[in-house]
Amino acid sequence: MEYKIALIPGDGIGPEIVREARKVLDAVCSKYGHKFIYSEVLLGGASIDVHGVPLTEEAVETAKASDAVLMGSIGGDAKTSPWYKLEPSRRPEAGLLAIRKALNLFANLRPAYLYQELKAACPLKEEVIGEGFDMIIVRELTGGLYFGERKTVEENGIKTAVDTLSYNENEIRRIAVKAFDIAMKRKKKVTSVDKANVLDSSRLWRKVVEEVAKDYPEVTLEHMLVDNCAMQLVHNPGQFDVILTENMFGDILSDEASMVTGSIGMLSSASLNDTKFGLYEPSHGSAPDIAGQNKANPIATILSAAMMLRYSLDLDREADAVEAAVQKVLTEGYRTGDIMSEGCRPVGTAEMGDLIAAAV
Ligand code: NAD
Ligand code: IPM
Ligand code: MN
Repeated sequence: MEYKIALIPGDGIGPEIVREARKVLDAVCSKYGHKFIYSEVLLGGASIDVHGVPLTEEAVETAKASDAVLMGSIGGDAKTSPWYKLEPSRRPEAGLLAIRKALNLFANLRPAYLYQELKAACPLKEEVIGEGFDMIIVRELTGGLYFGERKTVEENGIKTAVDTLSYNENEIRRIAVKAFDIAMKRKKKVTSVDKANVLDSSRLWRKVVEEVAKDYPEVTLEHMLVDNCAMQLVHNPGQFDVILTENMFGDILSDEASMVTGSIGMLSSASLNDTKFGLYEPSHGSAPDIAGQNKANPIATILSAAMMLRYSLDLDREADAVEAAVQKVLTEGYRTGDIMSEGCRPVGTAEMGDLIAAAV
C-alpha cells in the first residue's frame, strides 16, 4: 500500500531522531512491500528561519493532505537562540500549539512502559519497581491553560500577567471517552487526575468524567488530585493503567512518568483527533544541549512511528515488528547515553537507528 506521511524534523535533535525513525520506516517498507511518500514540513524555529513565522498555512495544508504526520521536536535554548527575542506568539512553541489546534488534535496519548532491560536505568528502588509498570497518560491537548485568554497588563506601574484555564463539557467528554475506550483494551482502570479541591474547571471535569464512566461499567474509575498523583508516580507507579488528565497536568506528569521508564528519550506520543489522522512525536523536546552530537536517543521517535503505523495506517503487524525490534536491540544491550548502565554497549543516535532498522 501507498501512504502519504508529512515529516517535521523541527529543531535541535529533531532532524537527527527523525532521520533514524525514517530509516526504520524504510526497513518496514522493504519488508512488507509498502511505499511511504514523504513531504517535509517546516515547523518551529526551522520555519521561523525560512518564513519568519513558526507555522505557515501551507504547512497545515500539507499535514492535512497526509495520512499522518511524524515529528521530531521544536524549540531552542531560550537564553541564546534569536527565536526567543520574538513576540511569544511568533516563537517555535506557538507553532506547535497552532498545528495541534489547526488539526484538532485533542487527544495526546503518552504510553510509559518499563522495559525489563531498562530496570537499571530506572532511578526507582528495586522494591518500588516491583513487577514493573505499564501505563498510558491520556492528556487533553487543545484546551485549558494553553489555549485560554492570555495577557499582561500594567496599572499604576505594576504589571499583571493573566493566563486562563477553561474547559467546557464537550471538551472534557470527548477526551474522557478516549480514555475509557483505551482502558477497555487494557487493564480497565482509569485514574482521572485533577485539582478538584481548588479549581472549578476540575470540579466540572470530575462531574463529566463520572457521567462518561456510566457507559463503561467494566472500567474502574478513581479520581486523584494532581499533587498526590505526582507523588504516587514515584511511590507506586505500578498502580496506574490509564491516567486521564487536562493539558498542563498531563504535560508535567508525562515528563515525570518518562523518567521512571529510564529516560525521557523512551517516551513516545500520539496526538489524535476524532478520525484516524494523527501527529506522532516523542514527548521530549529539542534537547539543545546535545543537538548535533549523535547522542540523542531516537527510540521515543521510533516508537512514535510505530504508534503511527498502528493508529493512523492500521498496520498492526508492522507496528509490532518495530516494537519487537526495539525490544531486541535493548535485550542485546545497546544503549544511548541517557539509558546507559553498567555492562551495556554504548551507541550513538545513528547506530541505534541502524540496529533497530536491521532488527526489523
Ligand atoms: P528537553 O526535553 O528538550 O530536554 C530535557 C533534558 O532531557 C535535556 O537534558 C536533554 O538533553 C534530555 N533529552 C531530551 N530528549 C532526549 C533524547 N531523545 N535523548 C537523550 N536525552 C534527551 O526539554 P527542555 O530542555 O526543557 O526544552 C528544550 C526545548 O525543547 C525548549 O525550546 C522547549 O520549548 C522545547 N520542547 C519541545 C517539545 C516538542 O517539540 N514537543 C517538547 C518539550 C520541549
Ligand atoms: C510537550 C511540550 C510542549 C507542551 C511545549 C513545547 C509547547 O512540552 O509536547 O510536552 O507543553 O505541550
Ligand atoms: Mn512537555
